[in-house]
Amino acid sequence: MIRIVKGTDSEIHTFYELLRIYFPYYETSGELFLSIETKENIKKVVLVIGDDRFEKDFVFSDAYVAKRAIASWIVRDIDHESKEDCLWGTLTGTRPIKFLQKQRSLLGDEKTKKYLIDEYLLSPYIANLLMEIALLESEKTDHIKGKGYSLYIHIPFCPTRCDYCSYPTIRSDNTDAVVLYMEHLLKELDFVLDEMEEEPTTIYIGGGTPTSIPKPQLKRLLDHLSHLNPVEFTLEAGRPETIDEELLIMLRDYPITRISINPQTMVDETLEKVKRPHNKEDIKRAYYKVREMTDFEINMDLILGLGDEGIPQVAHTFDEVIDLNPENITVHVLSLKNGSKLFENEGVYTKNIRKMQNYSMKRMAESGYHPYYLYRQKRIMGNGSNIGFSREGHDNLYNMIMMEEIHSVIGVGMSSTTKLVDETGKTVSKFSNFRNMRDYTERFGEIIDKKKKHLREVL
Ligand SMILES: C[S@@+](CC[C@H](N)C(=O)[O-])C[C@H]1O[C@@H](n2cnc3c(N)ncnc32)[C@H](O)[C@@H]1O
Ligand code: SF4
Repeated sequence: MIRIVKGTDSEIHTFYELLRIYFPYYETSGELFLSIETKENIKKVVLVIGDDRFEKDFVFSDAYVAKRAIASWIVRDIDHESKEDCLWGTLTGTRPIKFLQKQRSLLGDEKTKKYLIDEYLLSPYIANLLMEIALLESEKTDHIKGKGYSLYIHIPFCPTRCDYCSYPTIRSDNTDAVVLYMEHLLKELDFVLDEMEEEPTTIYIGGGTPTSIPKPQLKRLLDHLSHLNPVEFTLEAGRPETIDEELLIMLRDYPITRISINPQTMVDETLEKVKRPHNKEDIKRAYYKVREMTDFEINMDLILGLGDEGIPQVAHTFDEVIDLNPENITVHVLSLKNGSKLFENEGVYTKNIRKMQNYSMKRMAESGYHPYYLYRQKRIMGNGSNIGFSREGHDNLYNMIMMEEIHSVIGVGMSSTTKLVDETGKTVSKFSNFRNMRDYTERFGEIIDKKKKHLREVL
């Protein structure tokens, strides 16, 4: 177990993450503890890893600088057989590009890169990758920083549950639940659209699997959005079995510009293993139907680390997906959250994620895709990153806006989050809707009151 026995809240948070990355073995086994005792202007730090003890005193005048120095000591100076390599130095946190953008505005590009490498001990490879994405994001989103807003609409229904998934979802064959949910969702949506003076810049309908609810229910939602003219409108279909001709004929009548068809892997044995009830051919069929019947851009989500997959299986998936030539490919690294079955069944298992991630970066670059957004998750395997890749000119604006908090994103529906950004580009309020159906529907009045208060105060 990793335990931080003494320290401020901020130290506990940062160092738990850091120690988990560098000493993953101790997350589930053995004893590792860190104590940071503050005595006047000295931080007395003791790190015990199994039978080995390391100690150092840090004289400090600023708590942030002290935290950075302790992190560097752990990453650079502690030498222990159980310590893992990591290209990310002391940089923890889920949104490295946001951090980078802040540093760029303070220091400029060259100094920021140097700062990341010298102070945060990032490998030049990661520093360059982050800088490439940050520059692209600035180019694509600076003109809307703090201006306008985007809309996220959440549909928490799925046909069945995939083994690795920990999102709160409800079976889409529970028609009563769908009808009840949609009633509330549409009320919330109408409230937001009435409240806002302008139209959303982008719209994203995500889930769950939005295309798995009965078509008349999805149509009701789309009818509430049909008068809008967003620059980008994504509908997450996800599971290919939910895509048929009737659906596509319906979707063509709305201002949708992009759809997600998510293989996760193109290896049929793995799909079966993770209880994803489609195969490679289903994905291809859905993909070609969308291409034939619509002019939507297509995103495909993949996950590295499913089942027993290694490089040969990942190579097969990339061969197949690149051959289809979607505009976007989003490469996730398996993240095992406590709620997921896989985690319960198999515990934390380590895989050669880094090799697979390096392979995926190389394949994407060779095939003409560039990275355009990146985020990390707390329980991500092998300390990897989720990276969105794009063909030239097809970077998904919503993903960049949402990840970097470029402008306000108003979330509608159960468990959706709203982040309000003021005109200077500063995030001034964040709040989420209830995460379960009962609270979302029974305490709906509270949701509207909260939204009203925040929207009127900030926007
Ligand atoms: C919110 S999910 C919804 C997508 C859609 N329901 C589907 O499954 O195709 C968005 C994406 O997150 C990724 N994802 C879900 N669970 C994950 C996990 N445990 N680790 C890594 N990525 C995950 C998958 O690539 C998935 O397509
Ligand atoms: S991975 Fe997608 S389809 Fe599977 S349960 Fe999770 S949200 Fe639903």
